[in-house]
Amino acid sequence: MSSAMQEMHVDIGLVNTIVARSSLSFIDGEKGILEYVGYDIDSLARHSTFEETAYLLWHQRLPSSSELQSFSSQLQLNYDLSESMWDMVVSLPRDASPMHALRTLTSALALEDPAADDSSPEANMRKSISMLAKIPAFIAGFDRHRKGLDLVRPNQDVSIAENFLYMLNGVKPTERMIRAMDICLILHADHGFNASTFASLVTISTLSDMYSAVTTAIGTLKGPLHGGANQGVMYMLNEIDSIDDVESYVMNKLTNHERVMGFGHRVYKAYDPRATYLKTFAEGIAEDTGNMELFNMSKKIEEIMDREVGAKGIYPNVDFYSATTYYSLGLDLDLFTPLFAMSRVSGWTAHCLEYLEDNRLIRPRCTYVGPHELKYEPISNR
Ligand code: SDX
Repeated sequence: MSSAMQEMHVDIGLVNTIVARSSLSFIDGEKGILEYVGYDIDSLARHSTFEETAYLLWHQRLPSSSELQSFSSQLQLNYDLSESMWDMVVSLPRDASPMHALRTLTSALALEDPAADDSSPEANMRKSISMLAKIPAFIAGFDRHRKGLDLVRPNQDVSIAENFLYMLNGVKPTERMIRAMDICLILHADHGFNASTFASLVTISTLSDMYSAVTTAIGTLKGPLHGGANQGVMYMLNEIDSIDDVESYVMNKLTNHERVMGFGHRVYKAYDPRATYLKTFAEGIAEDTGNMELFNMSKKIEEIMDREVGAKGIYPNVDFYSATTYYSLGLDLDLFTPLFAMSRVSGWTAHCLEYLEDNRLIRPRCTYVGPHELKYEPISNR
């Protein structure tokens, strides 16, 4: 083994490896702290908006009132799709998974951007604005298409949260639903070098384009160990007939060493601060919408998991109570992860913009464990 390799360490899953410096998200996994550029997540959820949060991540400071107004207008001007993109939305198979549809449509944006490969900061910011603004239309448009409903074109006078709910349901959402959606988008916006963000950085570090980086990230977020977990939580809740069956269901999972979706985290060994907020939130929304049985079932699962594995630092993560929240907001289960992507595209693009300021190709090593110096035998001898 070369001396260079001898100095390297093996860290499967990069559990204990730091690959870069960032000013975007601070996470203290032991204390359960999350800050976006120094602002704690609870303050942002209480007082900010998703547009302001996206601005904070992209510019690493909070905007003035006029800057936020101008930024929001830029986004609103980009809500609508070209006619060829709307045609693509309705050309997709109705039984396709919304995450496959989202990944395909986002990737297709590059086909109609003559500057798709311009990696200047200005061009990358423009592409980031375009994707953040258009992904709601992809998700809502595909959902209405697969249900045989007429498409609802964007309302370019309202926020991302309100516009998404309007395009999805075809009616003006209530203020409470708009605020609920806006807070969920804030809570999901960024989270350090999670798998999908890291995947986007591997792509952008080759100096590939921003559309390719976000397409990589969407594909990575989809996995049930990552962003797909919120859907997994809902499937789990639907499998449990009643609150009386929760104990046996959870104990069966744990006995079989199966993962209970929505619990555990690579970094948090304390309560995920986003889950703290979402739990309170989910209860209010569930009460308003007649879904308290679902919320109480979730609470029961949490009690049992706390009793059985809390000492191992396994607590609810962001996905556990977001499932009840999204279900209570009337979202179909397979739209939960696309909603995660709708928010996290702000974090993905923010990290890509930041990483490109001091780019370094990401290319780790592996320890070779295969054979050496084998003699090549002609196929006639094999
Ligand atoms: C997200 O990284 C991010 O920041 C992600 C995210 C973001 O904002 O981007 O926060 C969003 O992806 C949240 C996580 C969503 N995933 C899930 O809810 C899926 C269920 N969770 C697990 O698969 C797991 O907790 C992971 C994948 C999240 C983390 O896994 P690790 O760090 O690789 O830990 P591990 O799988 O090695 O588990 C360590 C121990 C094991 O016990 P032992 O075998 O050592 O005895 O903890 C146990 C595991 O069995 N464990 C669980 C569990 N999670 C871990 N046991 C039961 N249920 C679980 N959910």
